[in-house]
Amino acid sequence: MSESRPNAGREAAADRSTVTVDRSGEIAWVTIDNPPVNATSNAVRADLAAAVKDVQGARVAALRCAGRTFIAGGDMSEFDAPPVEPHLPDVVQMVEDSEVPFVALMHGNVLGGGFEIAMACAWRIAAPGTGFGLPEVNVGLIPGAGGTQRLPRLVGMEAAIDIACRGRIVTAEDMLKLGGIDRVADDLAAACMELSAELPARPVPASRRPVPAFSDQLVAEAEKSLRKRARGQQSPLENLRALQWSAAPFEQGQPRERARHLELRRSPESRALRHVFFAERAAARPEAIAGATPRDVARVAIVGGGLMGAGIAAAALTAGLRVTLIERDAEAAGAAHERVSGLLDGAVDRGKMDDAARDAALAGFAAVDDYAHAAGADLAIEAVFEDAAVKREVFAKLSEAMGEEAILATNTSYLDPHDIFRDIPRPDRCLGLHFFSPANIMKLVEVVQTPDTAAEVLATGFALARRLRKMPVLSGICDGFIGNRILSAYRRAADYLLADGALPHEVDAAMRGFGMAMGPYEMQDMAGLQIAWANRKRQAATRPAGERYVAIADRLCEMGRLGRRSGKGWYDYGDDGKPQRSTEVEALIEAHSREHGLARRSFAEEEITGRLLAVMANEGLRIVEEDIAERPGDIDVVEVHGYGFPRWRGGPMHHASEVGWDVTRRNMHLVAEESPGSWGLASKL
Ligand code: NAI
Repeated sequence: MSESRPNAGREAAADRSTVTVDRSGEIAWVTIDNPPVNATSNAVRADLAAAVKDVQGARVAALRCAGRTFIAGGDMSEFDAPPVEPHLPDVVQMVEDSEVPFVALMHGNVLGGGFEIAMACAWRIAAPGTGFGLPEVNVGLIPGAGGTQRLPRLVGMEAAIDIACRGRIVTAEDMLKLGGIDRVADDLAAACMELSAELPARPVPASRRPVPAFSDQLVAEAEKSLRKRARGQQSPLENLRALQWSAAPFEQGQPRERARHLELRRSPESRALRHVFFAERAAARPEAIAGATPRDVARVAIVGGGLMGAGIAAAALTAGLRVTLIERDAEAAGAAHERVSGLLDGAVDRGKMDDAARDAALAGFAAVDDYAHAAGADLAIEAVFEDAAVKREVFAKLSEAMGEEAILATNTSYLDPHDIFRDIPRPDRCLGLHFFSPANIMKLVEVVQTPDTAAEVLATGFALARRLRKMPVLSGICDGFIGNRILSAYRRAADYLLADGALPHEVDAAMRGFGMAMGPYEMQDMAGLQIAWANRKRQAATRPAGERYVAIADRLCEMGRLGRRSGKGWYDYGDDGKPQRSTEVEALIEAHSREHGLARRSFAEEEITGRLLAVMANEGLRIVEEDIAERPGDIDVVEVHGYGFPRWRGGPMHHASEVGWDVTRRNMHLVAEESPGSWGLASKL
């Protein structure tokens, strides 16, 4: 039926830029067409408000969207400006109050404002697999058009908390069970025509229904778990509060929700979260790959099946790629196979994949000890020991087995990829793909461009990272690339604080209080102190002569205090695995201060966070000034996805602009004065 297809019969329709109304028999087909995701922009709201008037006289009005999805949210690029009329709550109310009952016909995603509009319709029919959600919480907001007021009335408080406070996306099938929609149907138009023919009694509008009974305990427990998970982020709790306003009549709860929504748009938290949202999109499409077409990658060779190689293999297999893993000998290949299967089993246990998917992934996997098996792979990732000579040898063998076309990538953390690839024919097909541990879970991948890397090769690195469901960020070459370079400045500044009077638990508590997943010392204990130790030894030769060096971490390593796995590091670990302050470490720190004639003094929490955040922002700015990163937002994405920086703080660069760069400058100058000759200052600071 052509009338039932979006945009069919347009000539007979009232045609606006984003919404058309087509009358066909007794149904008015209202079609929103605002690519890519039919966001409720200013234009869509205005056109939809006009469309509600145009449906008069029809038996039902069918609201649907052209393209790949129903309305998947608001247009966030409009959120910095004052809202423009007609406001979404008014349009939603017009839909609910319309004399002609609306039927929402939904496919793809029904998110945010889209879900709010759908909840105001008299009936809701969705295609199988449609996703429903209120993701406002993810950008520091609460819904602003009745979402928190209608949702508990439709699905009950427990499900509403999951959706609004935790940002859960619910499938059409589950939403049907919850009572949030009326039907799941393959053919939405046919389902709508059936409904129009039968025309059952119009249900009570969502806003007029009572909220099904729930216990106070439900809310109290939700609050506790949200507080714990949010690490200082407010929006999950804001959503919980707004849901509770639904105890009052809709006429009272809805304006409260709207007012709070508008206030929160201006909150630092929402600004930070929106910043990260846009920074992620920008980071995924760097200028360096503009216009370049990525190559297809179906089969990957991975060399080295240790911690990183196994994790990368698991990520690639989970994404449906075939993987050949090459190890030193048959025994190591067997161990690598077990490691990878273990990671896939773990994914099954966590409900991330089912048994059949795991078996299918393993069917595409081989662990071998012969480079000949790399022939035919489209791309290779090397993850062997951090030793340039070993890596060069690996790439020589790979190049021979795979030919001069195949893309070659190194996962090195600190070595210079340009140097690793110096003897490889066609270095334009070489790049760095720096994954983070555990590589099957962590999202960040630094895609490292050497002076030779071709744009098409870089674009393939980005496409591969996306396929692995990772967040790629472009990095040039410097010691530690973007993330580890900032990390080493951060740790150095923290060590200076220890030498000058702070203790590890104070530094950790301050940074956790700021919202970091972990403080710098807990993090080192978790990861193990050896890698950084080896690194400091490597850097010793090139360390600037005047730079202050705090050798406390070296002493710990020499004492065998290598971190959590060795039972002790910066902290002691008992049977419960919890870090305990160590008298041995604190005595060592105090002895260090004494030996260097340093008068220890206490540091307030704000002094600690102010200094450490200034150091991160300064290093980030230097990285941008040196063209290692394309833009400050890339630094923020690296920190948020790789280093536990709280997303709701927006990353170190955004945070610096939020508190004011003058504050950062002042703090950085303090840091530099306390340790003269130890810090390079960004020229724009
Ligand atoms: P690992 O020691 O756990 O694994 C290295 C594996 O490579 C071992 O299984 C070893 O048998 C194998 N191998 C060594 N030489 C080989 C050769 N010639 N041919 C085939 N296999 C060989 O080391 P890990 O931690 O997995 O690190 C690997 C690389 O990844 C290093 O360059 C490291 O800097 C980098 N990296 C490590 C991270 C970490 O957190 N551990 C994070 C990001 C990068």
